[in-house]
Amino acid sequence: MILLGVNIDHCATVRQARYRDAGATTGGPVEPDPVTFALAAERAGADGITVHLREDRRHIQDRDVWRLRECIGTRLNLEMACTPEMTALAVKLKPEYVCLVPENRQEVTTEGGLDVRGNRERVRACVQAMNAAGIKTSLFIDPDDAQIELSAELGAPVVELHTGAYAQAYFTPRRPAELQRLRLGAVRAHDLGLVVNAGHGINYVNIAEIRTLPHLHELNIGHSIVSRALFTGVDEAVREMKRRMNG
Ligand code: PXP
Repeated sequence: MILLGVNIDHCATVRQARYRDAGATTGGPVEPDPVTFALAAERAGADGITVHLREDRRHIQDRDVWRLRECIGTRLNLEMACTPEMTALAVKLKPEYVCLVPENRQEVTTEGGLDVRGNRERVRACVQAMNAAGIKTSLFIDPDDAQIELSAELGAPVVELHTGAYAQAYFTPRRPAELQRLRLGAVRAHDLGLVVNAGHGINYVNIAEIRTLPHLHELNIGHSIVSRALFTGVDEAVREMKRRMNG
């Protein structure tokens, strides 16, 4: 069974499009509420809820993560930049997982994987702080041997392989090569004792191939589920993805 983490950032994106300056993040006409979305996803079988609290707070707000911490019954996976501010917040919040991601203020959503090599000491410090707080750290990396090996060396228990390049290459001749990169990355990470997650750009079509990757523990999926939920509702969108993930 591959587990499903539902990323609800884009529910907050829609809310912020209208209520960015409203102050409160919930109540009255302030909609849609990401916490309500998360609870519906859990009822439909989500195994965890993922949010990215960005430094610029463009979608998920601080109040959302604290409300999620109180309300959800599965597991909270906090995606965050590897900074002292976010590390301190995570230690207080105590999500079950943190996923360290790169942040570039211009990007619409996360683009490349984390450069563990280029940020070795910052990543090491953050992983150590999380290990000491009993929070499992996942490193969001490209399926690249050097990044995978360093992730293991720095003591992170989990890697999330970035599936974005594969998803982008889906309708091009590069698709088999990108899938093979992910396959080899998953094998290498598993051989090193890392738990293998994957995410970014996974949808109801490419899941048919993604699910064939070896050693997959959990997939983090956001945009396609939030998009489909507009038409089918959250319940059906999550159930259908779970059906396609596990056959
Ligand atoms: N995993 C990580 C680390 C991400 O940053 C994102 C995007 O925020 C996702 C998974 C989900 O990607 P998508 O919204 O394309 O499903």
